Amino acid sequence: MPLKGLSQILKPSQISTDTQDLQVYGKDWAKHLKPNPLAVVFPTSTDQVRDIVLWARKTKTALVPSGGRTGMSGGATAANGEVLVSLSRMNKIVGHDSIDRTITCQAGVITEQLQNYAQDHGFYYPVDFAARGSSQVGGNVNTNAGGIKVLRYGLTRNWVAGLTVVTGQGQVLHLNNSLVKNATGYDLRHLFIGSEGTLGIVTEVTFQVTNPPKPLTVLLLGVENLDGVLSIYQLYRQRVPVTAYEMFTEEALGVVLGQGHLKRPLAEKAPYYVLVEFEQESAETNEHAMELFEKCAESGWVIDGAVAQTPQQAREFWRLREDISEATAPFEPYKNDISVRVADVTAFLTELDSLIKNDYPDFQVIWFGHIGDGNLHINILKPKNLSSEAFLKKCHEVDQHMFAMIARFKGSISAEHGVGVTKRPYLHFTRSTDEIQLMREIKAVFDPDGILNPGKLL
Ligand code: MLT
Ligand code: ZN
Repeated sequence: MPLKGLSQILKPSQISTDTQDLQVYGKDWAKHLKPNPLAVVFPTSTDQVRDIVLWARKTKTALVPSGGRTGMSGGATAANGEVLVSLSRMNKIVGHDSIDRTITCQAGVITEQLQNYAQDHGFYYPVDFAARGSSQVGGNVNTNAGGIKVLRYGLTRNWVAGLTVVTGQGQVLHLNNSLVKNATGYDLRHLFIGSEGTLGIVTEVTFQVTNPPKPLTVLLLGVENLDGVLSIYQLYRQRVPVTAYEMFTEEALGVVLGQGHLKRPLAEKAPYYVLVEFEQESAETNEHAMELFEKCAESGWVIDGAVAQTPQQAREFWRLREDISEATAPFEPYKNDISVRVADVTAFLTELDSLIKNDYPDFQVIWFGHIGDGNLHINILKPKNLSSEAFLKKCHEVDQHMFAMIARFKGSISAEHGVGVTKRPYLHFTRSTDEIQLMREIKAVFDPDGILNPGKLL
């Protein structure tokens, strides 16, 4: 029995081969990938993770590190008899340091738990996204999670002050130890951030935190065209401290409203909507914002607009954007998550939109994204008359054209959802042959037996 050695490391309650568990833990939000793991294990300490890795090396068993499974590229799926290492029982906040302004968490802590803990202690953890209620911090590190506040606060990478990791060799590394300055050569911490569980298993993270922002104003604008979307962005960023700048189309709004939970926010329909969130830095900030709004209206960019009058309304505006992913899910969307330089967004979107309209007229595309950092989410909805297989085939065809376009724009085939399984064949559109070769060599150093998340990323 291949799992025999594991019972010397873990209690029976920490090992599951239950069919239901294998189905649930075996996949993430890339729902079309079929799970087929051997078992799920639930370690409760770094030492147990190390012992699992050493066992896997000895028995040549593949391991898949598993967090909140909210990834969209299949990075946490186990389809080939792997053992899933779920960090979900390592879910404690170890503590905080008010002088260093850090919070230390086990890898299975939920993002929202970290955000709330920071708030309860007078701090702010700014990396934020719709999956905050179920994603885990270890997964955030492994995918270098981005989300809705990147243009103001950066990615997960910017907030990792220290990491505890078990490498594929079974070494336990304590990286950086919350130091601000540490000029001692290669910063291995950053290699693990965004490595999608292919180099090691993150067991503990120390996050930097910051001061809470001043009160936030949320503005929703209906916009005439893409040039307007970018012009408004430029104008607002120059004059007010913007914390988020999100875009969605009328089609995306239609799908969200179709759920029946929210009402249309503006009297006038518009092809594009932008959600602008900014800090009320001083008494003049709102005045500046109103002046900007008038300027946008005079320039013909804005068709209609509203400022959230209450925290409840601000939340509703945000839900119009954040619920898009969930609202499109029943339509079997084919998801892409790409980035180009912010300055190239209009040119890229215009070119891609006309390619899809001309060559794939039966495809309904839901466009939305974090325009303020150049990240576009492109979801193609499956036409009713097309089988899932035929739809997938056509979408892969679109991918070839789109990724060639991205390569031309020097953009990325994955802005924040990662490479995982679904984007692996396309990595070369963004990373050079030399880069990919060096990545393989790095993988071989940390994981010489290839037991960690094989078939993902590389
Ligand atoms: C989002 O920004 O809503 C997420 O990345 C989810 C998605 O693309 O579906
Ligand atoms: Zn996103």
